[in-house]
Amino acid sequence: MSFSPVPVWLDCDPGHDDAFAIALAVKSLELKVLGVSIIHGNDTVAHCALNAKRFMWACGIQGVSVFPGVSRPLVRDAKYCPEIHGVHGKDGVAGMCGFNFPDEEIFADQTNLPSVQNGVLKMVEIVSTYPEKVTIVATGAQTNLAMAIRLFPTVKDNISKIVFMGGAIGLGNTGVAAEFNMEIDPEAAHVVFHSGIPLVMVPLEVTHSVLVTPEVLATIARIDAFSPSSFEEKTCNIGQDLGKRLQIECDEIYKRIKDINNKELTDGEESNLKIPECSSNFAKCCVELLTFFRSTYKNVFSFDSPPLHDPCAVFYCINPQSFKTVNVFLDVELSGEKCTGRTLCDLHGLSKKEPNATVCYSLDVDKFWEKMFSCLKISNEKSPLNKK
Ligand code: BDR
Ligand code: CA
Repeated sequence: MSFSPVPVWLDCDPGHDDAFAIALAVKSLELKVLGVSIIHGNDTVAHCALNAKRFMWACGIQGVSVFPGVSRPLVRDAKYCPEIHGVHGKDGVAGMCGFNFPDEEIFADQTNLPSVQNGVLKMVEIVSTYPEKVTIVATGAQTNLAMAIRLFPTVKDNISKIVFMGGAIGLGNTGVAAEFNMEIDPEAAHVVFHSGIPLVMVPLEVTHSVLVTPEVLATIARIDAFSPSSFEEKTCNIGQDLGKRLQIECDEIYKRIKDINNKELTDGEESNLKIPECSSNFAKCCVELLTFFRSTYKNVFSFDSPPLHDPCAVFYCINPQSFKTVNVFLDVELSGEKCTGRTLCDLHGLSKKEPNATVCYSLDVDKFWEKMFSCLKISNEKSPLNKK
């Protein structure tokens, strides 16, 4: 049977979870990554571009270029998210917290530096001229996409769909109502949502089911020994219907309110977070990156294990059958006094508008992790970190 990979363009803001999204995309045979553009978000564009290259180097990825894009939202001031995602080092130096990448070695090789070409222009050039329609995977603010659509509207003709991590059916994460990627540039999301390009939204309801549990960490710590059958069902399983998913969201919120007076983890609790022994330097890198924001999610959101958001959008391109979806009219609030950036999924057709988006509401989490582990295993075999 002949098999042709889906051509994809990644637009992201690494960010720990974006970094794992890049690895999942590049290492999956089902996809062909044409390039990576970087957007402001978790940190500045410049820092996010370096982070992308750091983790790509660690995964042994070569020949995929990284193009820094727009440095601020269309209308608003830039807003970064280091407190949640820990992209800055404690000393203010860029780098993904949790692991010390050997920057001198990585960037001594000029080919590991981000490109000097602009991310929006490069995305438009490559997507427009590719012989097939291209899927865009967006895991950050949508400013690059909005600029591309506004400046070069004909690029839309060669985009098959935009699959994005962002928004929520219910409530947000960095704002009460809004999810971070939408909150920081709602005007850009508005341009994208009203562009006529088919949309697939992978919202918080889905990504909050993909948790970096102790079992997940233990598997990654011994990634060399991973084989699909060795990962038993241990994660929060899904296949839940939308109502149940939303109920879980509500439970999380109530739990958070209950814990509000008891916010900080004590030293004892911190040291109870068992970091597993790792069988390779690459495994250690992954485990350390994935555990770095664990206490933040515990303190702020009352999650025992933190979610891994962005690779879920990549996984949709690999295995859409693993998701449950609903087609709705999707919009984003721009001028609300308190809800700016909130995504609105018209589940009941009240707006009487034609659906413009496929919204995912659940995911087969085990299938996701199996694929993620396979890609990390391949990366582990190639990683220059293991040559040390
Ligand atoms: C999103 O916010 C970003 O900080 C993450 O990388 C992810 O894309 C989750 O709300
Ligand atoms: Ca992101």
